[in-house]
Amino acid sequence: MLIVFFISGCKQDSKKAKFTIGFSQCVGSDLWRRTMLEEMKMELSLHPGANFLYEDANGNSARQIQQVRRLLDKGIDLLIISPNEARPLTPVVEQVYNQGIPVIVIDRKTASSLYTSYVGADNYQLGKMAGQYISSEARDRVNLVEIMGLPGSSPAIERDRGLNEAIKANKNIHLKAKVYGNWLKDHAEKQLWQIKEQVKDANYIFAQNDVMAAGARAVLNKLNLSASVKVIGVDALPGTGGGLEMVADKTLNASLLYPTGGKEAIVTAFHILNKEPFSRENNMQSLVIDSTNVQLMKLQWNKVNSQRKDIEQQQSLLEEQRAIYNSQQIVLNILVITLVLTIVLGGLASFSLMENRKINKSLEAKNMEILAQRNQLVEMSEKAEAATEAKLNFFTNISHEFRTPLTLMLSIADDLLKQERIPDGGKNIHIIRKNAFRLLKLVNQLLDYRKIEYDKQKIRASENDLVSYVREIVDSFRHHAQKLDVQLNLLSQDREVKVWFDTQMLDKVFFNLISNSIKFSRDKGHVYVRIWQNGNGYVCVEVEDNGIGMNPEETAQIFNQFYQADHTPTVGSGIGLSLSREIIRLHQGIIEVKSEKWKGSVFTVHLPLGNGHLSPAEIATTEGNTADLDQQSKIYTADLEPVFPAKKSEGLASPKEFSILLVEDNDDLLQYLEEKLGEYFEVYTASNGPAALNLAFQWIPDLILSDVVIPNLSGKSLCEKLKSDFKTSHIPVILLTAQNSIEQQISGINAMADLYITKPFNFDFLLASIQNLIKNRLKLKEHFTSDISGPEKLALPKTLDRKFINDFNGIVEQNLSNEKFSVDDICREIGVSRVQLYRKVKALLGYSVSDYILNRRMKKAEYLLANEDYTIAEVTYLIGFANPNYFSTAFKARYGCSPSEFKKQRQH
Ligand code: FRU
Repeated sequence: MLIVFFISGCKQDSKKAKFTIGFSQCVGSDLWRRTMLEEMKMELSLHPGANFLYEDANGNSARQIQQVRRLLDKGIDLLIISPNEARPLTPVVEQVYNQGIPVIVIDRKTASSLYTSYVGADNYQLGKMAGQYISSEARDRVNLVEIMGLPGSSPAIERDRGLNEAIKANKNIHLKAKVYGNWLKDHAEKQLWQIKEQVKDANYIFAQNDVMAAGARAVLNKLNLSASVKVIGVDALPGTGGGLEMVADKTLNASLLYPTGGKEAIVTAFHILNKEPFSRENNMQSLVIDSTNVQLMKLQWNKVNSQRKDIEQQQSLLEEQRAIYNSQQIVLNILVITLVLTIVLGGLASFSLMENRKINKSLEAKNMEILAQRNQLVEMSEKAEAATEAKLNFFTNISHEFRTPLTLMLSIADDLLKQERIPDGGKNIHIIRKNAFRLLKLVNQLLDYRKIEYDKQKIRASENDLVSYVREIVDSFRHHAQKLDVQLNLLSQDREVKVWFDTQMLDKVFFNLISNSIKFSRDKGHVYVRIWQNGNGYVCVEVEDNGIGMNPEETAQIFNQFYQADHTPTVGSGIGLSLSREIIRLHQGIIEVKSEKWKGSVFTVHLPLGNGHLSPAEIATTEGNTADLDQQSKIYTADLEPVFPAKKSEGLASPKEFSILLVEDNDDLLQYLEEKLGEYFEVYTASNGPAALNLAFQWIPDLILSDVVIPNLSGKSLCEKLKSDFKTSHIPVILLTAQNSIEQQISGINAMADLYITKPFNFDFLLASIQNLIKNRLKLKEHFTSDISGPEKLALPKTLDRKFINDFNGIVEQNLSNEKFSVDDICREIGVSRVQLYRKVKALLGYSVSDYILNRRMKKAEYLLANEDYTIAEVTYLIGFANPNYFSTAFKARYGCSPSEFKKQRQH
């Protein structure tokens, strides 16, 4: 549609005026001038591009000057002018011409030759033709009266000149009078009346146009002179009221044809504007019309007129056809454009249809693929779900199975403890009881967790006094707190706070929080349990301790399922706090923690007040039951049972030859092993990595037995550290662990452990392994010390140990002759303490440092005495003894003979 509008717009644009033609008419009212204008318009209709501006001065020269100026201002391309009077109009016409605008002068002229073209009959010839016509009729004397046009208008002057020229030669013709009729009938009549006497004498009146001639006939009629006076006019216009008609009805005797030149002026104008050749002077033909040819002329004119009308009709038909053609052209254009657009859009549509089909096909394929994948996933997840469910069911069943034997064990342990004579004061039964409770707690927690996680267990809340509920739980810990020297306080803002909660569930949260707080409190610690209402519809229970606390990473993880913090040596799993969070969540409460390492932790439980937050299903129909608290209390406080102090070796007990460092975070197990192994070895104990490392460096034990999972430093890292420090690198390490996969055992051995024993272990196997490792170490030592030439020939297993022995021996060898040489000198050189040196040398070489030095001195003396020729005094000096007597005594004690006797024996 836009294109159509554009095209039609262009069409209209092309019709716009190419040229503007201005036409200044001296007077427009008479028939002759109207005919001229019509002729012009007719011709203009053949030039649709032209714009035609028309001005009528109505016989006023001053007005005509103004009108020409106005046309000039309107930006005409060409001026056609018929000047009213020659002189007054000359300057303005010259101005137009001088501005480069073409000027066509029509009918009347200016007084200047500055014009582009002239169109009109030759008025001088016309006047002459009139004179000659009168002359040709004049047999006798002729009296002539002339009625002239406007004085100053060029046709008036020229026609008069022509007339005079023609009649000058004929003596019969006498121009009796001349009047100015100003080209108007009335004016002519008035002027004739003024020369009435001359008119009476006249035979001919020549009026310069037919209008004034008709005026003359009227005067003659009034004077009854019509029959004797002939009237001749100019113009001979066809049509009603025209000169041709007046000649035919004998109003005039003759009229000279004076064509208007309207058509010719327009033709010439377009020649000029289109820069085509044109004539400057276009003189139109004239002839005399009188009774002899008037009918012929009329006939011709009628014919021409009817032809003109035909042409006009055809033109209007043509115009109609053109309008139809234009509208059809527009319709056609629309159709063509629509067709083109349809083809283009159709092409595009079929292209996009094809593309769409392609995309659809690939989408369909993808869809199928996704669907298949989804089905596969659904199938897999169903399988996984079933597997999980099966695992969980198995797990739940097994957990249930655990409870019966545990309950049995607990009741038997309780019975045994009631007996009077129990070995060890029931210590081992206590350990059994405590650990059975621990297992029971774990099993219970797992079952609870399972219920909440997978059965979507709902709470059964009843309205209870939270303060007394919490107090009862706190009270159940009092005895244990006291024993552990932990101050336990309950502080509540209100005596009573009614809260909707599940009494069978919420106790586990507080038991867990309080037992943890007591467990992790340090010596003379405190645990505060505070209850208050925060004013926002919540009651808060806060459990604060000044225990070992947690770092931010631990704090962030503490509620996560199965997370185990480094400092939870006895819990065994991180399920307690995760379970607590789930229970609080079911109550639509919040549990949060704030903690600082070595400063303590604060756990806060927020529980909503009222029961608006509970669904009807969550509200219990029966009252809350707290009977279970006692059982729960036993389970949670068992962990806090004090560890019986290890039986310390009595003063008189014989000191053991070898020492062992035990590293274990489970107090009971540590105590058990300490006691059992104490029968065979000196035992040092540590419950975490850094403490174990300190003890190892301090005592350089003969063997280290460590759990793999110990707080702050894993058993494996501990082993690596010990094996990469030369002070402890020789010590055999046994790792003890519940992680019994083969990969884990390999990783333990890779950490340079000498042995990897999995829990549960057989004590006799452990003992035999320890003894075996120590024996192997001894063998190595013997092998090493049996050779006098030094350890360098020995293939020692550890490079660090070899380096140590090399360094140590080098220092000793260099100083054998130095009598002031002491153990401190070696310590300084190697950079270890006396104890560390003593332990290391003892462990690797089987001697004390001083015995070893003495040994080396004696071996050197033996060699010198047997192979060299030194005196006893010289040998004494060479082996660093202060005097020969002391040397002799020491030598005799070792070899059973004096140095001189020895020398004699060997050298012979
Ligand atoms: C018309 C007219 C004609 C005459 C011509 C001379 O206004 O008077 O009758 O021939 O002007 O300019």
